[in-house]
Amino acid sequence: MAYLSFREVSYAVGERVILDRLSFDLERGETLVLLGRSGSGKTTALRLINRMLERSGGTITIDGTDVQSVDAIQLRRRIGYVIQEFGLLPHWTVEQNIALVPKLIAWPPDRQRQRARDLMAQVGLDPDRFGHRFPHELSGGQRQRVGVARALAAEPALLLFDEPFGALDPVTRHEMQQQFIQVREQFGGASVFVTHDLAEALSIGSRIAVLESGKLEGLFTPEQFLQAETPTARAFLNTLPQGLGPPGARTPRT
Ligand SMILES: Nc1ncnc2c1ncn2[C@@H]1O[C@H](COP(=O)(O)OP(=O)(O)OP(=O)(O)O)[C@@H](O)[C@H]1O
Ligand SMILES: [Mg+2]
Repeated sequence: MAYLSFREVSYAVGERVILDRLSFDLERGETLVLLGRSGSGKTTALRLINRMLERSGGTITIDGTDVQSVDAIQLRRRIGYVIQEFGLLPHWTVEQNIALVPKLIAWPPDRQRQRARDLMAQVGLDPDRFGHRFPHELSGGQRQRVGVARALAAEPALLLFDEPFGALDPVTRHEMQQQFIQVREQFGGASVFVTHDLAEALSIGSRIAVLESGKLEGLFTPEQFLQAETPTARAFLNTLPQGLGPPGARTPRT
């Protein structure tokens, strides 16, 4: 049985259909990338999983349980969520921010603290140097590392990422992607990762779901994606610098 399953999931605001009967399955250990242009419905799809939005139709199950049948707050504590704007608590230190969910679910204080320090080291922040700082004393890239550590803190089985690295410089971004790949191997759960950066999608996704106007245009492995013939997949492939994409995937320049 798939770990995360979308069956004919729709979301509408009044008459306006934002997601139209989306279906896909995700196994443990997989990273599903949602790729699509701005406004295609990526964030909406992600927020239906942790019920920051409530679907209008269809079913979403995690490990066989309909998300609708679980208390939304309980559900969110079991799902790590990383967004571009960090969402850190400004008056809490780095260590306290990372230990937020472990604290909420009443881990013993020593365990919370140890977990926060281990995670800081894992995402490349020296615990002695950064543990007692406040978010405003960090750079954007450092805050984003705290955001990733916080999402992992309570050992969630599912991680949701919404363009987490979009605002970082390309070198830091690459570092964070590599760290994500490493951390994911230890973590073993499933991830859904939203991006509109094709290179990011190809390097971190085990599969890539292409969204276009609220519909699933196609579901590809990275290898399949490079040969994909669907319009949005091709539009994305055309953004690769000359010479990097497959020859058939680009429109001739005149
Ligand atoms: N509450 C709302 N009422 C009406 N329309 C909405 C609402 N929330 C989102 N939308 C619309 O739904 C569509 C999908 O939005 P969504 O935020 O999921 O896109 P996205 O793929 O994440 O885009 P981006 O890459 O820009 O973040 C957009 O056209 C947006 O304007
Ligand atoms: Mg979005």
